Amino acid sequence: MKETVSILIPQEKVEERIQQLADEISRDYAGKTIHMIGILKGSVFFVCELAKRMTIPVTMDFMSVSSYGSGTRSTGVVKLIKDLDDPIEGKDVLVVEDIIDSGNTLSYLLENLKSRKPASIKLTTLLDKPERREKDVYVDYQGFQIPDEFVIGYGLDYDQRYRNLPYIGVMHLSEE
Ligand code: IMP
Ligand code: MG
Repeated sequence: MKETVSILIPQEKVEERIQQLADEISRDYAGKTIHMIGILKGSVFFVCELAKRMTIPVTMDFMSVSSYGSGTRSTGVVKLIKDLDDPIEGKDVLVVEDIIDSGNTLSYLLENLKSRKPASIKLTTLLDKPERREKDVYVDYQGFQIPDEFVIGYGLDYDQRYRNLPYIGVMHLSEE
């Protein structure tokens, strides 16, 4: 299969939107410390760019779950691969995700995290594909709504590749 990439959201637009989100979140959490939880590995670029722009105190932790095989469609099965390093009880948690597709990953994860008694828990995602939702997930801070296409870059991968692209691209697969 031949892989071609077209630009969906250029780097400047992504970073401009992240700045807006950081401003909004910093205002909403004024006087508090925000505990950002990045979902590995896709959210790594987003979580760093967002954290750099926050004007309130930030702590960070990471966890890793899998809902995907090596293809482009969710399996609906969520596996916890790496748990958080620290407890979140009493903390103001912001879960940071790269993309919400079916919502299977996040609905599992949010239930799991809520049971650990954080003071509050909110969700931000860089990208949202609402058309594909199977489970209801409330998004507090959304970067961009995108159509039902397979996207890569800014942390998002196709078979572990393309995460390092500095923009959001659409992946096109065609016969050679
Ligand atoms: P969900 O459980 O279907 O919501 O899938 C969420 C996860 O699937 C995301 O955290 C991504 O890792 C992955 N994913 C969903 N859509 C895409 C895409 O278009 N490109 C790359 N990864 C995706
Ligand atoms: Mg992910």
